[in-house]
Amino acid sequence: MSSKHYRVVALPGEGIGPEVLSAAIKVLLSLAELHNFTVQVDYGLIGEPAHEQLGCFFPSETAQLCAGSDGIVFGAVARGGLLEIRKHFDFFANLRPVKMSSHLLDQSSLRSDRVMDLDLLFVRELVSGIYFGPGDRTQDEQGAYGYHTMRYHDWEIRRIARVALQQAQLRRGLVTVAHKENALPHLPWSLLVQKEAVHFPGVKVAPMLVDNLAMQLVREPKQFDVILAGNLFGDILSDIAGALVGSIGLLASASLNADGLGLYEAIHGTAPDIAGKGIANPLGMIGAIALMLSQWGEHRAVETLHKAQEAVLAQGYRTADLVNRDASEAWVSTEELTELLIQSLRSGL
Ligand code: IPM
Ligand code: MG
Repeated sequence: MSSKHYRVVALPGEGIGPEVLSAAIKVLLSLAELHNFTVQVDYGLIGEPAHEQLGCFFPSETAQLCAGSDGIVFGAVARGGLLEIRKHFDFFANLRPVKMSSHLLDQSSLRSDRVMDLDLLFVRELVSGIYFGPGDRTQDEQGAYGYHTMRYHDWEIRRIARVALQQAQLRRGLVTVAHKENALPHLPWSLLVQKEAVHFPGVKVAPMLVDNLAMQLVREPKQFDVILAGNLFGDILSDIAGALVGSIGLLASASLNADGLGLYEAIHGTAPDIAGKGIANPLGMIGAIALMLSQWGEHRAVETLHKAQEAVLAQGYRTADLVNRDASEAWVSTEELTELLIQSLRSGL
């Protein structure tokens, strides 16, 4: 049987980015060994290190390295580079799955019964909206002012809607659309998504005002299946999920373009307060590896990884963000957790 070969570009960035990325690459290489595929990892510069060495946050060298790869694995950046790379490759579809581990119920901000078996998916538009609309700082007769513009072409809403509807077809068939049409009526997300939905039989579309949606997420999160949102609303709502599952350090995301190329990252940022201490939770970044493997169709490897992770958590191993002082849990560093996970991968087969 000929084994598959993949080329991955790793962009460590800064803060805890390099620590969690190196953990995730180790896991990826172990999975490759176990599941008979090979991975070449090319390292590139982004963010502060790129600015220092090449004078720009997202250099053309990095863009060239990423072009034609099978996936980009991204650590974290604080200031520049991320929005640029998303835009450059048109990574419009940001998928942020949220699954509650039964071993971490005591870490949730909500009572166990509210989050047990929670399984939802944020689909966030990533290359338009207020992040990329016209904006400036300028002045008029009242003095200095700034503005950003939330602008969406209908086709941009319709293409992200199709991604959400397709995902819902593979899940429980419900798309909740975050909108703010009572104040922003020129952005008719509900109507546009409903129009696309006629091509997706069996999927129900439920528009919800984004302020209410935020409240519903912390009240009764299990009512949701797929949550579709624009760039800014999706950013804000998906952080809430970090509190639901116990730590933002657990959450991962895949940002895909129309060709299926993806950028895979944890949803946390650079966390400068804990950078370099070896205590960051690598599971968000490792979850991003799982999303890349799914995109490649390496489903057995995803399954192995999932089982190994649950086994390590079941044994009580926790990084600092998840330690519950009263319980019989063992605090472990980023590297220790990674080693435990790799041992568990190997023994799980
Ligand atoms: C995220 C982050 C980014 C975003 C920041 C770092 C620009 O918060 O990916 O959620 O807002 O998109
Ligand atoms: Mg964010």
